[in-house]
Amino acid sequence: MNLPQQAQFNSQPMQIIHTVNELRNVLKAQPSIGFVPTMGNLHAGHVHLVEIAKQHAQCVVVSIFVNPLQFGANEDLASYPRTLEADCEKLKIAGADIVFAPSVAEVYADFDGNNLNQTMTITPPPMARELCGASRPGHFSGIATVVMKLFNIVQPQVSVFGQKDFQQLFVIKQLVKQFNLPITIIAGNTVREPSGLAMSSRNGYLTSTQKIAAAQLQQCLQQIVSAIKQGNTDFADLEQTAMQMLNDKGWLVDYISVRSANTLALATQDDSNLVVLGAAKLGNVRLIDNIDFCAK
Ligand code: PAF
Repeated sequence: MNLPQQAQFNSQPMQIIHTVNELRNVLKAQPSIGFVPTMGNLHAGHVHLVEIAKQHAQCVVVSIFVNPLQFGANEDLASYPRTLEADCEKLKIAGADIVFAPSVAEVYADFDGNNLNQTMTITPPPMARELCGASRPGHFSGIATVVMKLFNIVQPQVSVFGQKDFQQLFVIKQLVKQFNLPITIIAGNTVREPSGLAMSSRNGYLTSTQKIAAAQLQQCLQQIVSAIKQGNTDFADLEQTAMQMLNDKGWLVDYISVRSANTLALATQDDSNLVVLGAAKLGNVRLIDNIDFCAK
């Protein structure tokens, strides 16, 4: 849907732009650009990322683009909520300057109306084939590719990503490092519901009963963190116990894994910066979460 080019809130104009050319024209005049890439259906977690970006740049651009390349064949691309109008309202309040909401054809010049088979893609490091990458082949390649495109289009000095997608954040940091991009990546803390459930666009798929149960994932991760902080370093056993516990409660666990927060390699007893990550399905809804912490 094409919204008016300029929306007013508190006398601050927020522009909604759909094409690369127009965005480039508008951004020419900007001394510093902060960028928050999103797939829309925004929640308080995204608003937090915008607030962080505002602290680092004069002009904050938020992209809203449901990227087909990061969805597997049997995933929720078609049903992923597209809520541009409501998103723009939230972004106006958050103080974003520009919303970039392109079409698939605008982002992928080679899109033939049906598929993206001809697209040149980025292959992320092997770590991207573990954890979420193991059950979502091509997912991080799709993310790295679209983020590279968006970085080239927006050319920000600073870009903010949510820590809830810890592995994504890791891949993006590698992208910036390995392709020598002059962009500072900032991580935004995970924003949680009072129950502890991490805010996610996919929470909207949960029934009210499931939403209560969904906090169990974070509780399980928290128990692992407590055990490790108390000196338990049998990571494999902690992971197994947690997976069993969730499966017993009706979840379908993909993985629970304790990793080095610096490299995402399997945790060793020598690591002090750790992260425990989990992905599991509640009904048809796949949720992810993580907690990073200092073990020593
Ligand atoms: O985290 C997301 O919403 C997406 O993976 C991103 C970074 C916008 C790329 O499509």
